[in-house]
Formats: sequence, structure tokens, C-alpha cells
Amino acid sequence: MHWADHCALCHGNDGKGMTEIGRNLYPKAPDMTAAATQGLNDGELFSIIKNGVRLTGMPAWGDNSSAGDEQSWKLVLFIRHLPMATQEELDQMRTMNPISPMERQEAKAEDDFLNGTEAPTVGGTPTPTARKEHR
Ligand code: HEC
Repeated sequence: MHWADHCALCHGNDGKGMTEIGRNLYPKAPDMTAAATQGLNDGELFSIIKNGVRLTGMPAWGDNSSAGDEQSWKLVLFIRHLPMATQEELDQMRTMNPISPMERQEAKAEDDFLNGTEAPTVGGTPTPTARKEHR
């Protein structure tokens, strides 16, 4: 959950960094399933998560609390698991990714439509009934 909510924006749910932000940062977000990242030791991964990487897009996440440190160690374990992540896990993370207000609105409109609580729209244009309701 923590990864999907805070890290996937740049690193991707699969850790490969192929997100719009991740691949366009300079330096870009690395493929964390590859040897370069997996070859770092646990302490190095922990320290990067806690302190960030200076002059890059990688923020420091540590707040110096023991709860924060525990979260960071859990993220180290999670990063170790990334190369073995299953499709099921990736699908589950997708439901936990933050979404923009616009995406939320679209999802709601779709739900309303499917539940029959909103008049259907044709090509994004409200139908005459729907338009009347807004007056
Ligand atoms: C705003 C974008 C962004 C977010 C959000 C972000 N990162 Fe990063 N991260 C980066 C970039 C860019 C790098 C590469 C830095 C470099 O080139 O040294 C990086 C590097 C790393 C590395 C080092 C990988 C390596 O091989 O050197 C780790 C570990 C890491 N991030 C963990 C995390 C975790 C855990 C989170 C969530 C708590 C997170 N990152 C959130 C952008 C981000």
C-alpha cells in the first residue's frame, strides 16, 4: 500500500520506473528490479529511502521516528520482492495508486451511469434530459 501510494508515481508499481514522471526525470528513476539496485545492500537501500538522493527527483522520506524507520525497512523488503512481483500483486497495487480529481470524477460518472443514477451522455455531451436537470 505504501509503495503504491507514495513511490509508484515515479517508480511504477513494478519498480521499473516506466511512468510518465519516472522516465522523464533527469536522472530518471532506475529499473529497481535490475542488478544495479538489487546489488545495493539493505543498509544502502534504507539510507536512500530515509535521506533521498541529493540533486535528483528522489525525495527523503525519513522523519527520524522509529515508526518511520520501520516503514523504510519494510520498503527495503518490498524492493527485494519487486523482481518476483506477480500480476495479481500488480493489479492489487493499481487499486491503491493515487488518482487525480479528474480521474475520480470520471470514475464516478461511469459508476453513476452504470448504476442508472445519471442520465447517459452521448459522446461526452449531456443528453437533453441530463441538460434539463442542471437548470
Ligand atoms: C518524485 C519521484 C520519486 C518518488 C515519489 C520516489 N522516488 Fe525513489 N528515486 C527517484 C529517482 C529519480 C531515483 C534515482 C536517483 C539517482 O539517480 O540516484 C530514485 C532512486 C531510488 C532508490 C535507489 C535506487 C538505485 O538503484 O539507486 C531507491 C531505493 C528508491 N528510490 C526508493 C523509493 C521509495 C521506497 C519511494 C517511496 C517511499 C520512492 N523511491 C519515491 C524518484 C522518486
